[in-house]
Amino acid sequence: MDFVSQMKELAKSDLKKIVLPEGNEERNLKAAEILHNEKIADVILVGSRNEIEENAKKFGVNIEGITIEDPQTSERTKAYANELYELRKKKGVTQTMAENIILDPMYYATMMVKNDDAHGMVSGAVHTTGDLLRPGLQIIKTAPGISVVSSFFIMILKDKTYGENGQMLFADCAVNPNPNADELAAIAIATAESAKKLMKFEPKVAMLSFSSYGSAKHELVSKVQEATKKAQELRPDLSIDGELQLDAAIVESVGKKKAAASPVAGKANVLVFPDLQAGNIGYKLVERIAGADAIGPICQGFAKPINDLSRGCSVEDIVNVVAITAVQAQNQ
Ligand code: ACO
Repeated sequence: MDFVSQMKELAKSDLKKIVLPEGNEERNLKAAEILHNEKIADVILVGSRNEIEENAKKFGVNIEGITIEDPQTSERTKAYANELYELRKKKGVTQTMAENIILDPMYYATMMVKNDDAHGMVSGAVHTTGDLLRPGLQIIKTAPGISVVSSFFIMILKDKTYGENGQMLFADCAVNPNPNADELAAIAIATAESAKKLMKFEPKVAMLSFSSYGSAKHELVSKVQEATKKAQELRPDLSIDGELQLDAAIVESVGKKKAAASPVAGKANVLVFPDLQAGNIGYKLVERIAGADAIGPICQGFAKPINDLSRGCSVEDIVNVVAITAVQAQNQ
């Protein structure tokens, strides 16, 4: 069974409530119908009830049995606004501001997750990554013991000789523009944990750079060296190594030449990029030129699962990310 089918089967085994704040949008409506009919998740659509019902009719979607939450009329809105005010008053948010902000479906849905009225949230067909992350960072915040929210892509490669039978995790390709060494170490550890929990494989994490084992000297290389050392000190039980060039990380013959002593070189199944420019460009190169499937970005480090979509996403992409979010909620 392929990875996505496995996620759907797991999601069905313990149904989770997943909220879609872009509830009036065509692809979200179509995905909601599939998720409901196939019993992959208990979907909640957030938005104007009238608009959701009208659009469902317009697009020929049956939403019978699917919960709609309209922030304008919901009984929860007042309590959520009060809670938002308490959470953000130190940051200058007034009661009146909170009462307005909570009417935004992105904030309303995030508050549903915070209050366990939903187990997870998926959006991004309309909104940008920042629009999803900001309420998440402000309201849901990081899980205990985690300092940094980050993200990874599940890359399903055509060439099964790479990674774990053609599966690899790439991080961070969507959240942290320029992580420092501590943040990079945290991203490496979180992604190793995601590989174990979600992918069920033993992570071999390569900390990528343009240098292998000190072959080049530059402050950018030093950051990756420092991050590697920190990650190794924090989690000696994990296989994390660097700094490695990409070829040394994934090609066995090159790994042997450039970093013979490395337990990871030549066999990496988790790639940690030094910053968001490299990560975002890197995953798109592999997706577009090597024809890999890129599933994500999947967020990690939040106290509750919330995930992003690409604005170019398909109905199927939404169904898949909801299934993964439901499995993350099961693992929490
Ligand atoms: N982990 C934990 N907390 C964080 C993080 C993080 N990675 N980033 C910010 N925060 C905290 C801040 O400290 C702040 O806390 P506070 O308000 O309680 O003090 C809170 O989150 C909000 O931070 P802001 O400063 O308001 O938000 P910021 O402007 O830093 O934006 C964001 C954060 C949205 C993640 C930003 O870094 C961003 O836009 N990242 C890039 C997203 C992007 O465009 N990705 C590429 C496209 S995706 C794709 O191609 C698949």
